[in-house]
Amino acid sequence: MKNVLISIVFGLGMLSHANAFDGDAAAGKTKAATCAGCHGANGIGIADNYPNLAGQHADYIVKQLKAFQAGSRKDPVMAPMAAALSEQDMQDVAAHFSSFGRDGSAPAGAASADESASATPAAAAPAAVVADASAGKALYEHGDKERGITACVDCHGKDGNSKVLINPNLAKQHPEYIEKQLKAFKAESRHNASMNQVAGNLTDADIANIGAYFEDTSAVGEVKASAGKVAVKSFVGDVAAGKAKAATCTACHGADGNPMVAMYPALAGQGEAYLIKQLAEFKSGQRDNAVMAGMAAPLSDDDIKNVAAYFASQTLKPAAAKTSNTGQKLYVSGDAKRGIPACIACHGINGDGMDKAAFPSIAGQSATYIKSQLELFREAKRDNDRNAMMRNIAIKLSDDDISALANYMAAMK
Ligand code: HEC
Ligand code: HEC
Ligand code: HEC
Ligand code: HEC
Repeated sequence: MKNVLISIVFGLGMLSHANAFDGDAAAGKTKAATCAGCHGANGIGIADNYPNLAGQHADYIVKQLKAFQAGSRKDPVMAPMAAALSEQDMQDVAAHFSSFGRDGSAPAGAASADESASATPAAAAPAAVVADASAGKALYEHGDKERGITACVDCHGKDGNSKVLINPNLAKQHPEYIEKQLKAFKAESRHNASMNQVAGNLTDADIANIGAYFEDTSAVGEVKASAGKVAVKSFVGDVAAGKAKAATCTACHGADGNPMVAMYPALAGQGEAYLIKQLAEFKSGQRDNAVMAGMAAPLSDDDIKNVAAYFASQTLKPAAAKTSNTGQKLYVSGDAKRGIPACIACHGINGDGMDKAAFPSIAGQSATYIKSQLELFREAKRDNDRNAMMRNIAIKLSDDDISALANYMAAMK
């Protein structure tokens, strides 16, 4: 599976897809003369505040240049630089910089005497904070579920070598620059749905630790889950009170949230925030289902929180399911031609959702139920999804897509 050329389309309804690699590196080299002043002739930034572009994915470079040009990514230095570039210029300079190795080494097949290789990589500056590179690596590789931090490795790849063209490589990037960007995503002065979500939960110490890890990723040994702590799951509601209230639910959803019949959704291990939202909306009628309306009606706000906490605290025991390669492809990469975004962007690489944003977990959910929901969204009979997030996607899915996706999701572990 080397070099999987998948480009994931991230973002809410943002369907512009990554361009095919159609820049001209030779033309880009000439056009990149002005860029070299800061980013180095070989794409290695001449100082720590200038990001390395060497070996970065061309698609990602183009996307950033467009964002600087449009002003959706703000930087006083880059705005005028990008303003001067045509679409073709962007493709060309991107092709040029991406042709180098991540360390600024000459492009494969290029004359080794290429003058661009003469710029010396900037030495890593000593970290300002006493940061813990191992803790940084642990967070990078394992995330921290309790704090809503998705593992970075899922999107940025092992040691920062991303296989997904729209996700930037972080390997060999200046740590100072990585830290600055994480702070910008956290402050939401730089916008990207996934990164704002992830960085929003990082502390300054986490950011410093991740920076320290990128000083030299090869210097950090194997790590286990973050800081070795097995955090105890905490819930907004009261699990014990919820269990008592859940007695009426067991006939359909199972005593521990694992249903016996496939038409009923599994609730075990589902995100608490998502469960609360659904129950409140069944009760208000915003999610229209006659059976669940009756079940939710007698629940008070506290009952809803408690029942949600109870089911969220249970362990999902997925029924055996046969996976689908077609479903996997659509889930991971979407289909840019048909404007279908990748499900992975919101439901996660392992299908466990992002509960802080009330994006549901769908891994191991019953295929029958998933299929029914995608059909309901497609016909807009389920319309409680914020900003029509799911309706806009489902409307583009064929019956075959829906079956393939349902099978893939049900078989996800
Ligand atoms: C005067 C210095 C300077 C020049 C010249 C310059 N840049 Fe930049 N560039 C920067 C800085 C500073 C940033 C980081 C902005 C930030 O912190 O968000 C940056 C960021 C970028 C990024 C985003 C990198 C990432 O990893 O997200 C790209 C792409 C880029 N520049 C391309 C170019 C190109 C192409 C040119 C030439 C047309 C150019 N730059 C010229 C200073 C410069
Ligand atoms: C769900 C996928 C996803 C996850 C998880 C994720 N990222 Fe990102 N990250 C992205 C995308 C997409 C971008 C590019 C955003 C853009 O286009 O401006 C990005 C951009 C970045 C950048 C800016 C790179 C540059 O060259 O400017 C940094 C730094 C970064 N991520 C670090 C992290 C860290 C650290 C974590 C884990 C704590 C993480 N990311 C988790 C998808 C992800
Ligand atoms: C008679 C069977 C039945 C009973 C009893 C029942 N449910 Fe349901 N539940 C369903 C059905 C059917 C659906 C799917 C509704 C749809 O298609 O939108 C559902 C859906 C749900 C969902 C949404 C799941 C998701 O993934 O979006 C939640 C949450 C839920 N039920 C919680 C409860 C709770 C809590 C109780 C007890 C207070 C309960 N249910 C009792 C049949 C039942
Ligand atoms: C932009 C984010 C986003 C993307 C991309 C996305 N989803 Fe969703 N999905 C959501 C949200 C949010 C909900 C819950 C809506 C609500 O609050 O009821 C949801 C709900 C669902 C549900 C119902 C889960 C349940 O328990 O009832 C299914 C099934 C689903 N999505 C499948 C998919 C598939 C398949 C794709 C890709 C083709 C996809 N989603 C892409 C955000 C997204």
